[in-house]
Amino acid sequence: MKRLNIGILGFGTVATGVADLIRENHAEISRRTGYEFLINNIFVRSLDRANPYNLPLTTNINEIIMNPEIDVVVELMGGIEPSLTYIKTALEQNKHVITANKALIATHGNELFKLAAEKGLMLMFEASVAGGIPVIKSLRESLIGNKIESLAGIINGTGNYILTEMKEKGRSFSDALADAQALGYAEADPTFDVEGIDAAHKLTILASIAFGIPLQFDKVFIEGISKLESDDIKYADQLGYTIKHLGIAKNLSEGIEIRVHPTLIPKKELISNVNGVMNAVLVKGNAVGPVLSYGAGAGGHPTASSVLSDLADISRMLDADKEHYVPYLAFQNQALSNAPILPQAEIYTAYYLRIKAVDQPGVLSDITHILAHHDISIELMIQTKSVEDNLANIIMTTHETKEKAILDSIRQIEALTNITGDTTLLRIESFGS
Ligand code: NDP
Ligand code: HSE
Repeated sequence: MKRLNIGILGFGTVATGVADLIRENHAEISRRTGYEFLINNIFVRSLDRANPYNLPLTTNINEIIMNPEIDVVVELMGGIEPSLTYIKTALEQNKHVITANKALIATHGNELFKLAAEKGLMLMFEASVAGGIPVIKSLRESLIGNKIESLAGIINGTGNYILTEMKEKGRSFSDALADAQALGYAEADPTFDVEGIDAAHKLTILASIAFGIPLQFDKVFIEGISKLESDDIKYADQLGYTIKHLGIAKNLSEGIEIRVHPTLIPKKELISNVNGVMNAVLVKGNAVGPVLSYGAGAGGHPTASSVLSDLADISRMLDADKEHYVPYLAFQNQALSNAPILPQAEIYTAYYLRIKAVDQPGVLSDITHILAHHDISIELMIQTKSVEDNLANIIMTTHETKEKAILDSIRQIEALTNITGDTTLLRIESFGS
């Protein structure tokens, strides 16, 4: 039996999952690939730690990235440095690399893929997006016959877990986040999850693979869920919507939209019903139509499942001509397009507004006058008494309009004397399935 020698960097949630799966599923893996996957060494900070299978551990990084016996380095530490330096060194030392590190791929992927291409090596990252869902492989390989028109996804398990717990069980944001951390779903810095940064890293990768553009994390519009109020979850529900934290990317003739924000979605749509740590990615291709992939978006074993898929691909391509490698970002490196990323003010969508007003005659007509002046058509409107004295919550949904028009309107509405506090603005999307 041929052997694939693996060096792992880090021994946390995902790396433990990889060790578990290689042990539990070794017979299946060998039957499928013709290879035995051998964990040759694991880089850890301290040798004084749990090591359930007595695997070889080292605190000397060079025993992995400089070791000629190791075929593949699997980076599962997270963060930018020292992961970036270690991966570069591993590539320089002619090792194929696998990483689950979306932050690193989204922000340094362009230079890493260039280096990997120069060295004729594979750099794989299936686990970096949507945990156990094989979304990279399906976009990059299975949907190759399509022009991808758009994609939308729940791509952060921690955020979806929090929103589900808040809505279904009335739990507080902080309690639900603490659970997600204990379950191994959250990033080392959980603000990445709740402020949408992690979802933006993943969307950067998906948009690049879907549309054939370089990775451009700095151009993603990002809004998190930390400021979402339970009142809005309740009102959205009354209006027939569920609020989900979505990553959305669209390939339009005028440019590309890439945005992450809480989104109202009609309750009957499939993606509205994706709960807990589960993720889902809806891709629309011009031939296939909509394709929805669903599965665990975080957690040790689901994510390790994606790492093993990359290990299997590498074992199959070890002796292949590098010209036959699947391009890192799905498109030939020299064929990436420079299509512009649209500023958020230029996008068109429908909106949900919650305006806090002093409950007295004339206030509603002032608001509708401003919206009409910006050519914004109201779809529906409800007014509820606020808990505070003589204040009303005015909740409106609009038809599709340009974001700049709605932002200009809100500025004018908030300047009215009868309006108190900030207006809540949320976006509404419908995917038709
Ligand atoms: P963990 O925090 O559980 O594990 C990280 C491991 O790397 C720990 O063992 C940690 O050591 C070690 N480590 C971190 N920095 C260093 C360093 N400088 N030197 C040596 N060791 C280091 O993280 P996860 O397993 O959850 O995540 C790993 C990667 O996978 C991240 O990039 C994450 O974004 C990604 N990912 C995670 C998913 C999940 O569900 N958890 C899903 C998809 C991707 P120590 O314990 O000593 O701190
Ligand atoms: N923190 C990430 C999440 C891990 O919750 O989705 C999976 O990428």
